[in-house]
Amino acid sequence: MFAEEVNLAGYTTLRLGGPARRFVEATTEAELVAAVRAADGEGEPVLVLGGGSNLVVSDDGFPGTVIHIGTRGTERVGGEGDTVHVRVQAGEDWDPFVARCVSDGLAGIECLSGIPGRVGATPIQNVGAYGQDVSETIVEVRAYDREARALVTLDRDACRFTYRHSVFKGNDRYLVLDVTYALREAEESQPVAYAELAKRLGVGVGERVTLKEARDAVLELRRGKGMVLDAADPDSRSAGSFFTNPILDGGQIAELERRVAERLGPDARFPRYPESGGRVKTSAAWLIDRAGFAKGHALGPARISTKHTLALTNPGGARTADLLALAREVRGGVRAAFGIELVNEPVLVGITL
Ligand code: EPU
Repeated sequence: MFAEEVNLAGYTTLRLGGPARRFVEATTEAELVAAVRAADGEGEPVLVLGGGSNLVVSDDGFPGTVIHIGTRGTERVGGEGDTVHVRVQAGEDWDPFVARCVSDGLAGIECLSGIPGRVGATPIQNVGAYGQDVSETIVEVRAYDREARALVTLDRDACRFTYRHSVFKGNDRYLVLDVTYALREAEESQPVAYAELAKRLGVGVGERVTLKEARDAVLELRRGKGMVLDAADPDSRSAGSFFTNPILDGGQIAELERRVAERLGPDARFPRYPESGGRVKTSAAWLIDRAGFAKGHALGPARISTKHTLALTNPGGARTADLLALAREVRGGVRAAFGIELVNEPVLVGITL
């Protein structure tokens, strides 16, 4: 199906973005691949659109073909012992898939409940939350390789997953077609790995709960942070976390300790989550907060979520330019306060920060 001049604001969770020159709705893999091949053949720019929950699109829209991924289907394709391999088409909505796994007694993605978007996006930014990320369960990703002009299968190693990153992120080479997850047949969740979630569940880190308990607690936590899409909650008109959590090496840790002590007093400590090689991940939300941006801080019609400083929102009436101005203000404030350069997490289309 082709359409001209579709407004992209209707396809993003931020409700922002101008028109697409051309808009293709692809509901089969063959349509999907044919649409990309045709556009590539004409030298036409392509924007692959899934759930639109991690996209910030220019007010000028997209001067090319937008391909909306609408492929559906979930099938069990194997596994061994109590492990089940489930192959899911890229256009399946993520959270209904998680909900089905939870009710079918399949463990491994229950903490990824309530995340907007579609399945095809999950390997791209290695979607993660509350102690799980999809790199733990993805077995393989089938994709159309636009360089080789061929269908390819990438196993977990070939996906090169790291924190919010993979071989698919930051380039347009691969069009994700389907994703296979290895899930465990179990009534109980994977060990709870996130302190805030364990606390909410009233268990210790490392203990298990039922899949439903894990899902319900994650949904509650996410709702409390405005991170579950809800037409009645303007804070959920966001792209989730707008910045990634910075990962610091030894020198950067020492420098941040110095800046934090200078700004907040000698006893102040910044959040630290250990990473490999002696590095630590810190919290962008904390840095934004302590740089002086309160929840609900607004610049024109764009606003920091009233529930979490890491989400930038369009509570209504904002344009992409307004959101970018707010993002620049926040990034500049954190740089001035702590010497750390925040990096955007959502994909920016036709704009730079
Ligand atoms: N904090 C503040 N102010 C706030 C909120 C949080 O100072 O307004 C501090 C607190 O110290 C808190 C810490 O930030 O302990 C961490 O907050 P939270 O547990 O909410 O996690 P996050 O680091 O802000 C990350 C992911 C989320 C994911 C949650 C839960 C990134 C960029 N974000 O957020 O993912 O849901 O952890 O695991 O890694 C997303 O990527 O879009 C996303 C929502």
